[in-house]
Amino acid sequence: MEATTATHAARTAESLPGPRPWPVVGNGLQLRLDRLHLQLEGWAREYGAPFTFNIRSRRFVVVDSPEVIGQVLRRRPEQFRRSERLESVSREMGFLGLFAANGDTWRRQRPMVLAGLDPAHIREFFPALVAVTDRLRRRWLRAAQAGETIDLQADLMRFTVDVTTGLAFGEDLNTLETPGDDTIQRHLNVVMPALFKRILSPVDPPAWLRRLRERELQAHIHELRQAVQGFIAKTRKVLAGQPALRDRPQNLIQALVAGRDREGSGLTDEDVAGNVLTMLLAGEDTTANTLAWMFWHLHRNPAAAAAARAEVDAVLQGAAGVQDLAQLGRLDLVEACANETMRLKPVAPFIMNQVVEDTQVGDVAVRKGQFVICLMRPGGLDAATFAQPEAYDPMRWLGEGASAHAMASAKRHTMPFGAGPRMCPGRYLALAEIKLAAAMLLANFELVDVSPPGGGEPRETVSIVMSPVGLRMKLRARG
Ligand code: HEM
Repeated sequence: MEATTATHAARTAESLPGPRPWPVVGNGLQLRLDRLHLQLEGWAREYGAPFTFNIRSRRFVVVDSPEVIGQVLRRRPEQFRRSERLESVSREMGFLGLFAANGDTWRRQRPMVLAGLDPAHIREFFPALVAVTDRLRRRWLRAAQAGETIDLQADLMRFTVDVTTGLAFGEDLNTLETPGDDTIQRHLNVVMPALFKRILSPVDPPAWLRRLRERELQAHIHELRQAVQGFIAKTRKVLAGQPALRDRPQNLIQALVAGRDREGSGLTDEDVAGNVLTMLLAGEDTTANTLAWMFWHLHRNPAAAAAARAEVDAVLQGAAGVQDLAQLGRLDLVEACANETMRLKPVAPFIMNQVVEDTQVGDVAVRKGQFVICLMRPGGLDAATFAQPEAYDPMRWLGEGASAHAMASAKRHTMPFGAGPRMCPGRYLALAEIKLAAAMLLANFELVDVSPPGGGEPRETVSIVMSPVGLRMKLRARG
């Protein structure tokens, strides 16, 4: 891991060590996009960080020290931005929302999205969250009773899509109980990898070639846009019937539409649609895959699972799931299991930034237009902060014998939700979902098996979000 920041004697990005580039394409053809995070982590071990690589004329600097990462992420939006390619591809695909936006567009959108996802809204939405979690329980109870194997990630994505559409759009899709109706997930599963490939591919093919190659992708994007237009049209109807909601919107989409219609807002219909799609993209895979990794870890670590179950049983007192926020707040060990999962299996294993104006990252001078990739996992595997870093040990987050200072330092080393002005606005919702689903699982079921086909450790794959490949789960209902 690289040394901490020094502000003098800057090295240039080009002078850093790194994999040997090929003529013209640089390292572009060496990249394995589906396991890019593993490749970058491997190069960081081989060459040390910071290291560099390039894709044609695009120069990348990769950093992995939590201190340097914190500095980069906190210097947004002035000195670092999301990449121009992400912004232009997202605009073209129709989901230019908060995640991909920059500058003034981002500044205008951020408060609105924050307000839609803040703890107060989550409190109001809590009964609906409880109801959606209970649907997942009923779905899994049926599977357990029938002795069926559960497609874990698909079921968890139904759960997160139902939560996100409920909270953000006031729409009860109920994909958990609608057989076969996984429309949104199916389209997102095609669009996410395509977006990721476009952002990083060595050359961005011309529009005519893309149209030819991406006919199928365009069909998925079209379907997603149709769904989004449907949500927006319904919202407009509701606002027309109850104009008072324009000043006191009840959910994110109402806030976006009302904001768009306000004179001089600077927001467009595209901004509204882009943010609706962004919520689906950002809220679905991240939370679902964190839960999938967590259940896999709990199955592999029966002592941790037993301790978490004891806490759940004590808090729920025989209920089938969490009923209120007070109970949720008492699930410290369950939350620690989530923290430990995100330390070992961060679903956002890197955060890519583009340099807005010439500046310095640690002791490296970076120029406008170059890229700084923050590798998020190495900080969580640092033995100086985490004893036996490879072990899954949720107790380390509970401060048993550890000082508040050590806890704060541990949190600064992992940053699963990013840091600084662009930190994830969905983190309260995500943690609530994770704790609700995990408590429901532990209260009602024994984990008979959680494994990929063939067993062993699931392969990690990345397409914006890092996920396990093919996790299956078998449950037995508790007596
Ligand atoms: C376990 C679940 C989640 C994880 C690990 C996660 C992680 C992240 C990370 C690492 C970022 C980038 C932060 C940065 O650049 O500093 C981010 C941004 C974002 N996340 Fe999440 N996220 C999760 C769930 C959610 C949910 C549930 C939503 C909304 C429903 C959401 C919405 C967003 C949005 C809109 C952004 C862009 C923020 C901006 O650029 O200003 N996320 N998330």
